[in-house]
Amino acid sequence: MTDKIKEATLILKRSRFTTAFTGAGISVESGIPSFRGSGGLWEKYDPKVLDLNYFLKDPAGSWVVIKEIFYDFFGMAKPNAAHLVLARMEREGLLGRTITQNIDNLHQEAGSAIISEFHGNSKTLLCLQCHRKYRSGEISLEHVPPTCRECGGILKPDFVFFGEAIPQLPLAEAYEAATLSDVFLVIGTTGEVMPANQIPFMAKEYGATIIEVNPEPSNFTDKITDIFLQGKATEVMKKLEILLFPAALDDDQDGID
Ligand code: APR
Repeated sequence: MTDKIKEATLILKRSRFTTAFTGAGISVESGIPSFRGSGGLWEKYDPKVLDLNYFLKDPAGSWVVIKEIFYDFFGMAKPNAAHLVLARMEREGLLGRTITQNIDNLHQEAGSAIISEFHGNSKTLLCLQCHRKYRSGEISLEHVPPTCRECGGILKPDFVFFGEAIPQLPLAEAYEAATLSDVFLVIGTTGEVMPANQIPFMAKEYGATIIEVNPEPSNFTDKITDIFLQGKATEVMKKLEILLFPAALDDDQDGID
């Protein structure tokens, strides 16, 4: 693994434009379960609650489960070392964009600013009637479904449900990143869900080197991954950070007055 980490570090340092492409796995060590795999959310909950037609038929029933998963649970999660290293890479000019499938807002809370949220964000609620938006923190979820203060319409989490279109802006940003990146850093995703999973394939077609971080192989690993850094996101990203940003020489050490 060490040689692979060193190889990945060299490629990232030489890269003109690197894009990070993240999935639920990067937030697992923040306490948010992934969707698939052992202990995944879809083992415990029926994904139908995130099907748009089901939600529209039974908003109250859907909201009971959505509240438990995405508000009671996600609410306490904090960014982990992997989110923080990506934010540092962006600050230090080694990361041009983060495309995330996650809706947990942890990249923003870690300090990343150039983010494309392919599936939206759970921190915003949208009125289905008048389209007014609310921050999730300003709406009580004691009684569900929550309703709009202006028109009484039902509020929906402003993230992409199954059967809903990907928001235009992040889609366009992701396509652009896929065409101009020379490195794609793919972290913590099975690559199961369309159309998000097409983005790394597109980047590969445009000549990007694919560096993947995951404890398990994914749908990308045997097909497009050039360097597979097998391991947990925090462990691998901390190793990369040490090589990408060798600690600045401490002033006292260099002895120059
Ligand atoms: N570090 C890195 N990766 C991890 C870790 C970890 N500590 N733990 C698990 N993983 C990996 C798993 O091996 C798996 O490949 O994270 C991935 C999680 O896969 P999914 O649960 O399928 O998550 P994701 O690929 O993001 O799902 C895409 O599916 O349900 C929809 O909208 C939802 O955005 C989500 C989309």
